[in-house]
Amino acid sequence: MLDIKADLHKILLGRNKDWSEKMLKENPELFEELAQHQNPFFLWIGCSDSRVPPNQITGTMPGDIFIHRNIANVVVHTDMNLLSVVDYGVNVLGIDHVIVCGHYGCGGVKAAMGPEFGGAAASWVRHIRDVARIHHADLDMIADEKERFDRLVELNVAEQVYDLSRTTVLRDAWTKKRKVQVHGWVYSLKDGLITDLNVTRTRYEAEEAGVDVD
Ligand code: CO
Repeated sequence: MLDIKADLHKILLGRNKDWSEKMLKENPELFEELAQHQNPFFLWIGCSDSRVPPNQITGTMPGDIFIHRNIANVVVHTDMNLLSVVDYGVNVLGIDHVIVCGHYGCGGVKAAMGPEFGGAAASWVRHIRDVARIHHADLDMIADEKERFDRLVELNVAEQVYDLSRTTVLRDAWTKKRKVQVHGWVYSLKDGLITDLNVTRTRYEAEEAGVDVD
């Protein structure tokens, strides 16, 4: 007899079989082709949130998007995990479109607006508290808490786009005249739609590199 709780993972294995069969029916060569190589056109840095699966919300297929996810889509300067993904994506796979996609209602961003708490996630959330501190003047102007939350989600994306543009991977790519674009998007859980925040960076902006960075 199936013990629903203990055997929950088996549901995934069953679904996987069904999915594989369905995909093969649509394209008998799909897996053979995918097994040969990957040639994704997009690199996605998104939130780990289960409600924001990159392929599903963009209607894309296996092989289309190279993906890195963490809590609240944060780009940390010393995160070797993220930096390795960006390096491999841009330099080996030759990807020209890097997308940082946040989402409204993000638990990680929400946590950064509340009191301090314990555990490993608290240290991670500090990165978002820094974003709130950098932009406190902007955020303090917004009286409505929900609106302030939405704004911090957007500012967090913009900040991560900026941080990504300062990585040696992107700076080197732009020095070599690669046409790499770093986009900032935000996804709405309420209607499933993505908004482009128009914070795209397409070059190394040296004027921001000095001590006068705001
Ligand atoms: Co999130």
